[in-house]
Amino acid sequence: MKAKQAAGALGAWVEVDLRQAARSAALFAELEAALLRHEVLFARDQALAPDDLKRLGERFGDIEEHPAYPTLAEAPGVQVLESTASKPTKIEAWHSDMTFRAEPPGVTVLAAETLPAFGGDTLWASASAAHDGLSAPMRRLVDGLAATHDFASGFKESLAEPGGWERLRGALAEHPAVTHPVVRTHPASGRKAIYVNRLFTTRINGLAPRESEALLEFLCAEVTTVEYTVRLAWQPGTVAIWDNRATQHKPVNDYFPQHRRMHRVTVAGERPR
Ligand code: SIN
Repeated sequence: MKAKQAAGALGAWVEVDLRQAARSAALFAELEAALLRHEVLFARDQALAPDDLKRLGERFGDIEEHPAYPTLAEAPGVQVLESTASKPTKIEAWHSDMTFRAEPPGVTVLAAETLPAFGGDTLWASASAAHDGLSAPMRRLVDGLAATHDFASGFKESLAEPGGWERLRGALAEHPAVTHPVVRTHPASGRKAIYVNRLFTTRINGLAPRESEALLEFLCAEVTTVEYTVRLAWQPGTVAIWDNRATQHKPVNDYFPQHRRMHRVTVAGERPR
């Protein structure tokens, strides 16, 4: 399988039939190795039906549902992320997926379904490159810290909608705030990465509120330094696969009121350490 680096810090274009990768252990092993190396992979011209997307996700591990997004009846586990004129997307901030869970997903696969005529790109940033870029004294400070991540904070706009609390009552009860290390170590590569994000991280534990806000702001800004990012312009048939342990991502919401619909699977990860 050919992998062509897409940017300085992360990202590669892979030439592979992902349906085949989902069926072939050898090809999947190459894909997994490329993901470990490049942190996010892009593939063009794929013909992944929802079932194929699910099968590909299952190769990485157990598929996890999302408490706030609908899933396809014909392929349970395949989430629908949709933005329309009457219901624009609320996913705005940089994040790693579902860090409000004690064991957040390791890998995510996202496939384009309906794309706007312009805009709607997605950005990824390497949280491991950002950690590598910290000075030694800053690393010593942050390496031992822990932070609080909260579903309620990430979904505050949805909760503020009429009926929001009722709709998300179950999800809220299932997801009390959790604590993760501010810097996590990748279980396969051993590389360290900054693991706080603007969507779900509410505070750095043990610091005074102003210290916590300032350090959070600094670390989140470091991760999204332009030199640590890569940008994908979607086309019909494009699929992106990323490692949530090493990256953050953000959709570019510049296409309103056009329609954009994506299919996504998230794959179980482990407790960050
Ligand atoms: C996501 O945050 O997983 C969605 C990214 C996108 O829709 O581009």
